[in-house]
Order: sequence, then C-alpha cells, then structure tokens
Amino acid sequence: MKVATRLTRLPPYPFARWSAEVRAARARGADVIRLDIGNPDMPPPAPIIDALTRSARHRDHHGYPGFRGIPAFREAVAGYYERRFGVTIDPETQVVPLIGSKEGIIHMALACLDPGDLALVPDPGYAPYALGAALASAETCTFPLPAERGFLPDLGAIPSEVADRAALMWLNYPNNPTGATADLDFLAQAVEFARRHDLLLCHDAPYCEVCYDGYVAPSVLQVDGALEVAIEFNSLSKMANMAGWRVGMAVGNAQAIGALGQVKSNIDSGIFQPIQEAAVEALSLNPAWLAERNAIYQERMEIVLHAVEAAGMAAPRPRATLYVWAPVPSGWTSEGFGLALLGETGVAIAPGSVFGPGGEGYVRISVTAPTERLREATQRLVPFVETA
Ligand SMILES: Cc1ncc(COP(=O)(O)O)c(C=O)c1O
Repeated sequence: MKVATRLTRLPPYPFARWSAEVRAARARGADVIRLDIGNPDMPPPAPIIDALTRSARHRDHHGYPGFRGIPAFREAVAGYYERRFGVTIDPETQVVPLIGSKEGIIHMALACLDPGDLALVPDPGYAPYALGAALASAETCTFPLPAERGFLPDLGAIPSEVADRAALMWLNYPNNPTGATADLDFLAQAVEFARRHDLLLCHDAPYCEVCYDGYVAPSVLQVDGALEVAIEFNSLSKMANMAGWRVGMAVGNAQAIGALGQVKSNIDSGIFQPIQEAAVEALSLNPAWLAERNAIYQERMEIVLHAVEAAGMAAPRPRATLYVWAPVPSGWTSEGFGLALLGETGVAIAPGSVFGPGGEGYVRISVTAPTERLREATQRLVPFVETA
C-alpha cells in the first residue's frame, strides 16, 4: 500500500512513544502511577450526565446532527462568552462546535495553510499546532517561551520577514506544558502583532476554567478588535471533566470560523445531539462545582510543589492548568530522568522534550491522579532523586 508522503514526513505523535514506555513498564509488572497526561480523573457533575441520558431517550435525537451543531449549543457558547468574558459573539457566524479542540486545531491548519505557507508555533507547546501544519504540507517556525519572561514569548524578537510570511500563529494561555498565564496586556500585544503582520491569531484556551487562588483567565476575544484577527479554541474536556466526550468549540473571527466549518462540513457530520445538550448544561456550570473541583486540583498541586522542592527541583506555583513544570536535577536530560524514574519507581511524568526542544531540562507533572495515588507518587519521587 502506498502511504502519502505527508504521513511519512510526519514525526510520530510525541506522546505515542512515551505512552509505549509507560505500557512497557506496566507489562513488566510495575505499579505505574500516571502523572504524565492531562486526563481528568474525576467525572462531570451529575446534571451534565442527566442531560445526556435525558436527550438520548428521545427517539429523534439519533440522526446525523450536522457539523454546525444544534442552535442551542451555539447559543450556549455565545452565552458563556458573554457571561464569563463580557464578549458578544454571533452564534450564527462566530461559533463552530468541535469534536474536542484537538480536532479543530488540526483542521484549522487545513482551513488556512497551503503547502509552503508558514505557521508560527510556541516551543515548548502542544504538539498538534505543528502537526496540523505538517499535515497541510506547510512549514512551521517555532518561537521560544523563555522561563525568565514567565514563559511568554518576546513577540518583538520574531523577525519581521518571518512574521510577514506567516499565515497563522498559535498561542496557548493558561499554558500547556509550562502552567504559565498571560494577562490581557500580553494578549493585546498579540492581537496587535497579528494585525501588523496580517496573520490569523489562534488562541487555545482549554484551561481557562482550571484556575487557582482567585485567578480568572482572560479570553483573547476581550481585546478590542480581536474579532478581526483572532479565533479562540476551547473545550469542555478540562473545563467540565468531559475529556472522553469529545466536545469543544472554536469562537471568533467569522471568516476563520467559516473556513474551519467548510473543512468540517467535508469531513465530519457533527457531534451526537445528546452530547451537545450535555455541553449546553456544562457551559452554564455551577461556579460552586468549579470552585470545589479546582480546590481538589489545588491541594494536589501543593503536594507536588512541596515534593519537587524537597527533591531540589523547585517549580513556580501555577495559577492555572493541571501541570507543574519542574526543572530536572542537574546531570539529567528530560527523557533520561523520565525513563529512570519510570523504570525504578513506576512514576510516569512527561519529559519536557516531548513538547519540543524548548522543553528540554524540564518535566511536566500532571495533577490528574487521585490524591492518594499522587501522594504515593511524590513519596517515590523524592527518595529516587536523593539517591539517583
Ligand atoms: C493546550 C491544549 N490544547 C488542546 C487540547 C485538546 O483538548 P481536547 O481535544 O480534549 O478538547 C489539550 C489537551 O490536553 C491541550 O493541552
């Protein structure tokens, strides 16, 4: 069978190789504790599950739902953006549902990159930004997220000729993998950058409801004029513990939404209606539920932060996301440290290099394991580092 060149040029999905290491450790009989993936371990609240089952009992809710989504879903997204960010969105032209935001991220590349076009992507960063460009036979140019700038890029350091050539740029705050946050001033600079260089700003914000210590993450669409140059990707996966349900949304610039919708109209036939109705429920989540859920993550964060400090790998306290981004002890590479820790203790963390060369020297520790298991993992981590 002939395999398309675009696939042979594609690097293996970075996490696939790491997951194979984790499976191999399990096969060797290790008691593996997975802190390497951001897969929420708790269920969504009961009203969301009730909405799904209620809707699934309707005899006419089982047909093709259509890629544009039911009007109630698009209206719920618009309602969420209005309430949460004070941003007014037209549910007809500025919202498209996604089968998880990863789907939309990859298809955005097909919607606006021709072969040879250029996408600007952060390093370290979520792999699909670059993989989408590769699938579109486009090029990528990475920009660094320097620790000394709080993992925010220096947009002025991107050469003008590179920025002028770029068709789109990815940003992601609250950030995976670094746990960094960006304020509205930075997002305003990014919007200005997009306007100056005539590119589409794609902001990926799936962690905007996973915040601590009273921090409230902004949307790029709050910036004046953002709707002219920006689109935001969001998702119910982390917001409402619905990662397996595969439901998210892209919101923003109508032309970009239209182009993404055109790709999707040729590829998918929409999201199962009961899942959309459950998502409508999720988009008006009870703030008390969110606060309680985030308090559980925050307690786990504290456990991890104390452990990495005790291990000589002190990390900044994230104000959002599910991740602690800790430096590896001196003398180790990210992957070497991750493999040795996994092999000797069964604790799986993500080597920073999985997120690009800019992640070398770090590991990402996720707080999506039950608290007691996470505590157990840290009790294995600290002596491992002390004796390694
Ligand atoms: C930065 C970022 N964007 C997007 C996604 C994809 O989320 P989903 O496809 O579940 O909506 C993830 C998942 O981990 C992520 O970390």
